[in-house]
This record gives sequence, structure tokens and C-alpha cells, in this order.
Amino acid sequence: MQLEPDDERILAGEQGETKQKMLELLVALGKVFGAERLVPIKSAQVSGASYKTIGKYGLEWLSSLDAKAVIPAVLNPIGMPRGRWREMGVDPDFAEKQQAVVAAYSRLGIALECTCTPYYLRETSFGDHIAWSESSAVSYANSVIGARTNREGGPGALAAALAGKTPCYGLHLPANRKPQVVIAVGADTAGWTIADYGALGYHAGKLVGNRIPFFTGIRPDRDGLKALGAAMAATGAVALYHVDGVTPEAKKNKYDIAGLETITVEGAEIKKLFKDVPVEAVAVGCPHCSPEELTAIARLLKGKRVKMPLYVFASQGVIDRNRKTVEAIEKSGAKVYADTCMVVSPVMERYKGIMVNSGKALAYVPDMCGGAARIGTTEECVRVATE
Ligand code: F3S
Repeated sequence: MQLEPDDERILAGEQGETKQKMLELLVALGKVFGAERLVPIKSAQVSGASYKTIGKYGLEWLSSLDAKAVIPAVLNPIGMPRGRWREMGVDPDFAEKQQAVVAAYSRLGIALECTCTPYYLRETSFGDHIAWSESSAVSYANSVIGARTNREGGPGALAAALAGKTPCYGLHLPANRKPQVVIAVGADTAGWTIADYGALGYHAGKLVGNRIPFFTGIRPDRDGLKALGAAMAATGAVALYHVDGVTPEAKKNKYDIAGLETITVEGAEIKKLFKDVPVEAVAVGCPHCSPEELTAIARLLKGKRVKMPLYVFASQGVIDRNRKTVEAIEKSGAKVYADTCMVVSPVMERYKGIMVNSGKALAYVPDMCGGAARIGTTEECVRVATE
């Protein structure tokens, strides 16, 4: 790999052991994947933030590091809302360890905007090179924005934040961003909600694995795209997808899809995922809610009281900018929490069944929370929580 003189000095240890080791990690990754150089990045998003997922050894490793991020970098959701963990019922012992993880990241210069939707907080543009690690954020950045990131592991994204660079391979190169399989949706998608697109993603992810799909027959809005990509990244390993006439690279490039395998998906295959399963709580905001999703939830809850726990997850920045909407939601007894989510918070393990409006949560809740998961539209979620 071609390295800059500055990089050589870091590798020689002139800026301390942490930066040296982190750059060694990036160079090793680059060599494995055939990168010819490191590319400067605009931002990083670092996963491995919940104590539930990284545990004691992850915390020990983070605490041993000593360097500062040189580009804007944010953290993925953690196991609790930082300001309201007692109210959520988080165990104090867990909270103490989670706070230690957060403090370690803060010392490393990672902003404590603990979210999988960093694109609502800071502008990311078409063609930007970035190093993000939460899979739904990666999918959104690549597919909906047209930025360029591989599906980074937590340590790789942290190393990139500290170096300000990442190895230039994979989805950083335009030649690797072409469609590899066509998903022809045969369903009538007029009136489809984010839950329908999440269910389509849940189904499609299993069909395509880690290939780059090109969808025809759908016209999702940005929230629909977010739901579709998040679910495909969970049941498959999709880091980039295109939607005919909708996503920026599909609009800009005339992709030749004639020779690609085509898989047809019918509406019945999606609808059968909407099963009636007993639930004890409802959780929406996977990925974290957009302002438009918060508005829709507030409208559905108007004049109602929740009869079972209803959790709404969003980033602190989106909550702060939509205070009135959040107050309207919480007036019903629902809780709008920042920093965390239904999958990475240990609190959700107390429920035997959770209703969600997200294909990604449908995939992860059973394994990560131990309970059953049911998918429904946001409207159905609110109805189940309030009736
Ligand atoms: Fe985000 Fe948690 Fe879902 S990190 S994508 S809300 S599983």
C-alpha cells in the first residue's frame, strides 16, 4: 500500500502507541482486501457501544486506548438512555459499566450522539468517503445518500476516526457499486408503509445475502428506504442497494441489468410475515425515528393512553429539535428514549413478546432480547399499545 509520510511516522510510533496500533490495523485490513492506499474520510460512526454487546473485555480494551479522533465521529446506540436510565429500569450495575464505556469513547473524542441515524444530525453528501459501522447506517449512507463506506467493524471504524482515513477498497470504489442481482417486486405497493418495506427487506436480505440488489416495482420514500435497507442488512449482509428511478446512483448511472439473475417477490410472501403473536410491549424506532416518524406517532396517539409499554427510540438531536412532538407522544404514557434501542438495551429482555414496525427488529429481537417478535404497521403498533 502507498502511504503518506505522515502515516509512516505514525507507524513508527511518533504519535503514541494507540495511533500506531490503529494505523497498523487499517493497513492490515487494506492489505487483506487489496487496497492500494488510504482515503481521507469525512466522518466515522463507531459500533460496539452497548455494554450488553462488548462486555468486560471490550471495556478493558477501550479503556487502554489513548488518542483523539481527528474527524467528526459519533457512537452507535448504547444500552440505556444516558439521562433517563433509572426511569427505563436499567440495573445500576449495568448503568455504571455502560457509563464507563461511554466515558472511554468520550476520551477518544467520539461524540456521544449515540445513534444509528447519524445522517439526521450532520450532513453527509453524495460521494463522501466515510467509515460507518452500524449496518443500517451503512446501508442508508451508501444507498440513499450515495456516500461511500464499507460495512466497518467497530474497531475498524474507531481506527478510522483516530486516523481520519480508511483503506480504499470495496464500496469506496465505483466499480464495486454496480448491481449484482435484480429483485422484481410484483406486489401492488401503493400505500405501503415502513413496516411493509421493512418486511420486504427482511425477505429480500435472505434471498440476496451480501450481493448488491437492484429493486424494480417499488417507490419508497426516505423512511421506506431506511426500513428496507436496515432489514436487508440484518437478514442478509447488504451494504448497498439500488432502487430503479429512486436511489441516487440508480438515477445517475444507466445500469445494465439485463444479464443479472432476477428474483421475483410477490405481495403474499411479504404479507405472511405479519403474524399475530402475543406481545407484552411495543417498540418503534429501529432504525431511530426520523422527525416525520415522530410526527406520525404523535398523530396516532392523540387523545389516547397506552395500556402496555410503548417505547419510541430516536437520537437525542432529533428529540431536541422536535420537543413539542415528543411531549405529545409522552402525554399518552409512551416513552421517547434517546441513545438506546429495543435491541441493545437489556431492559427489553423482560418481555416475552415485543411488537415492532421494523423488519430489522423483527430479525434481531428474538436472538438479542430472547422474546418473540411481531411486525405490524405503526398504526397497528399504536392500536395494540392503546387498546
Ligand atoms: Fe438502530 Fe438498534 Fe435498530 S442500533 S438499527 S435501533 S437495532
